Amino acid sequence: MDPWSAVDDITPGNANLRRQIALRYLADGMHIHTDDIVIVNGALEGLNLSLELVTKPGDAVIVESPAFYGALQALESHGLRAVEVAVHPREGIDLAALRAALERHRPKACWLMTNFQNPVGSLMPDEKKQALVQLLTERDIPLIEDDVYGELYFGSRRPRPAKAWDKSGIVLHSSSFSKCLAPGYRVGWTVAGRYGKELAQLKTMRSLSACAPAQAALADYLAKGGYDKHLRQLRHALIAQQGALLKAVARYFPKGTRASHPDGGYFLWVELAGGVDALELHRRALSLGISVAPGPMFSAQRAFTNFIRLNYGHPWDERSEAAIATLGRLAQA
Ligand SMILES: Cc1ncc(COP(=O)(O)O)c(C=O)c1O
Repeated sequence: MDPWSAVDDITPGNANLRRQIALRYLADGMHIHTDDIVIVNGALEGLNLSLELVTKPGDAVIVESPAFYGALQALESHGLRAVEVAVHPREGIDLAALRAALERHRPKACWLMTNFQNPVGSLMPDEKKQALVQLLTERDIPLIEDDVYGELYFGSRRPRPAKAWDKSGIVLHSSSFSKCLAPGYRVGWTVAGRYGKELAQLKTMRSLSACAPAQAALADYLAKGGYDKHLRQLRHALIAQQGALLKAVARYFPKGTRASHPDGGYFLWVELAGGVDALELHRRALSLGISVAPGPMFSAQRAFTNFIRLNYGHPWDERSEAAIATLGRLAQA
């Protein structure tokens, strides 16, 4: 590799990679210009930069309830106030509750996941995404959209993000290759709408650029055309693994346990029966080498004390079955 090529890869990032990402948007019916894409160190950096750009310490920001703990940590580290709004297990954030929260708290931004929300797995229908963008456009409130699981759909086509309905540039859309290829590359991107220039400047100030060899390798890989085949295989595997995990939860967990059944992503959100304390279950499971994410991790209020998030991102085998059987026994006890 030409050592000087690193110069070409500084922010906004490797032009070939940005062209490949723009082509992927186009395949999903979205016209995103290559120049509007900023390559970042994983989606998390893009989300944090977006947050920093549109808020100042002390502001209120809407997050989902439950929310990805990375969002809660980001708000905390930027000195922001989390306003939690309930997420419907299938359809995403409750728009009536969101409207009321906008009136009451006058937030400076919303940080949401419209596709396969972490942890509940909800997928917002298109009409709802459109209504969400309209609502926020009317009030001129930026939407920081986290779309890292959008490619992991189980239906016939990739669900479009809310960004697809954004005419005035209020949506700052971030995604990455972390969930579909490997988190270790630390390559993601942000399309920041009307905040694009400022986001690129802030990215340059914070970390100059994303890793040049990783960007070049991904650009090359995408150009060669194997990514879609890989994604199809991954989705098939995830569907099978979800089926196996759902069956095991139904078999081993106490009666009355309820699990989500998402149409994509790789998490199940499980409501434990009979007042089981998720933190206690987490501690006991961990002492046996089993890792589950306890519900309170996903809430600034430490709510969801009787929920856990289970992961079916790994190939299913006897060890997985035994781990769920053990968890079920612990929940029963
Ligand atoms: C919902 C969500 N958003 C963002 C991220 C971070 O993505 P990346 O690895 O691309 O920074 C994660 C990863 O854990 C995630 O689950």
